[in-house]
Amino acid sequence: MKAKFSSKIGIVAATVGSAVGLGNVWRFPAEVQENGGAAFLLVYIACVFLLGIPVMLSEFSLGREGGADAVGTFRKLSPGRPWWLTGLLGVLASYMILCFYMVVAGWTFEYMIQSVTGNLYAPVDGMDAAGGFTTRMQQYIEGDIAPLIYTFIMIALNLAILLGGVQKGIERISNVLMPILFLLLVIFCCVSLSLPGASGGLKYFFSPDFSKITPTVIINALGQAFFSLSLGMGVLITYASYFPSSAKLTKTAFTVSVLDLLVALMMGIIIFPAVVSFGLEGESLRGLTLVFVTLPEVFNRMELTELWSALFFFTLSVAAITSTISIAEVSVAFFQDRFKMSRVKACLSVLLPTVLFSTMCSMSLSSDSSLTIGGKTLFDFLDMVATNIMLPVGSLLMCIYAGWVAPRSLMIRQFTNDGTLRGHLSGFIMFCIKYVAPPAIIAIFVTTFL
Ligand code: PHE
Repeated sequence: MKAKFSSKIGIVAATVGSAVGLGNVWRFPAEVQENGGAAFLLVYIACVFLLGIPVMLSEFSLGREGGADAVGTFRKLSPGRPWWLTGLLGVLASYMILCFYMVVAGWTFEYMIQSVTGNLYAPVDGMDAAGGFTTRMQQYIEGDIAPLIYTFIMIALNLAILLGGVQKGIERISNVLMPILFLLLVIFCCVSLSLPGASGGLKYFFSPDFSKITPTVIINALGQAFFSLSLGMGVLITYASYFPSSAKLTKTAFTVSVLDLLVALMMGIIIFPAVVSFGLEGESLRGLTLVFVTLPEVFNRMELTELWSALFFFTLSVAAITSTISIAEVSVAFFQDRFKMSRVKACLSVLLPTVLFSTMCSMSLSSDSSLTIGGKTLFDFLDMVATNIMLPVGSLLMCIYAGWVAPRSLMIRQFTNDGTLRGHLSGFIMFCIKYVAPPAIIAIFVTTFL
């Protein structure tokens, strides 16, 4: 019997768990900063609603109709046609993402432990606070052994959860962790808003300067929306194959997207006021340093430094792990369905090789490493190819399939649960899937590479 999620809450928790990840807590604020603040936020919200939700519904509909892994779903729906390659592209992309994402997940866990032990906040000889945290980051991230150990711990945790299966592993852990994650984020919002001068940060995040909306901003917002909603690589096809026939797809897609957006908003509300309040805006907000240097500086200036810091990195680890299990599940389901492997064998076949590949990704970051491809570290290379190329191509193919190849009746049947729901939005959603999403994705692609 095909495994299924057992409750509505479980469906939403697991899917939100996949969506909410390092993309929200780390990538989103950095993107906001690099793309003109509140203007980016506006475009991002439009992308989530006009493109994100329709593409998510495409994946949900195909996945539940096919009732199989990403490759099997296309084989079932279009036997003898090459559409299964779209699924295979998803499996490959998700595996590539898994390998480097696991390394970042390891860092969040490492930072949590180093906060608890107080190591992170021990002064570094001859350095001011910012210099100290930069040195720590180099030690923790580019060091030889420490980051590997934490990455392995993350892989082991993933294995333990995935071995539990769909209901007793993925669903159960999501039901426990997601409410904790939301609760912690709310607490952090309150703390950040109570800092002196918080309103400066809020103003930056929420009052848009429309002149800042450029094609690049739009493209970046769209890429961020797809990554954050876990679209385009078969994660949602795989999860939707575990949805019972009573699940309401439109409502689920809406709930998941709104919650994912909410987490991104909460991260903005946490980070920008804190950064402005302590006068840390400027150069240091870029990418990695935002979470691993700037925020420790913020905690360092607050009371109860270690406690807040440990709680924050715990929140990040939770966000990371509920995403890594969904990324790994794409391949696990593929091995189980395609090669008729047992769950245990499939989980091991997916996660054991990640020990090797994640190690290589992690090692490629040290400055004397030769693990580079075309001048990029292996880590950045996988990120670039999977996130910027495979993910948009996958999303595009899935939209074209759902909008133009799959019978319209199939999609409507899935939206309305065989006509038992009214589905007044069905027409609009199909319009977005057919006519809005594909040109928008092509536009991102062309502009990124020309
Ligand atoms: N959505 C996740 C995040 O925001 C990342 C992810 C991408 C998960 C693709 C699954 C698939 O971190």
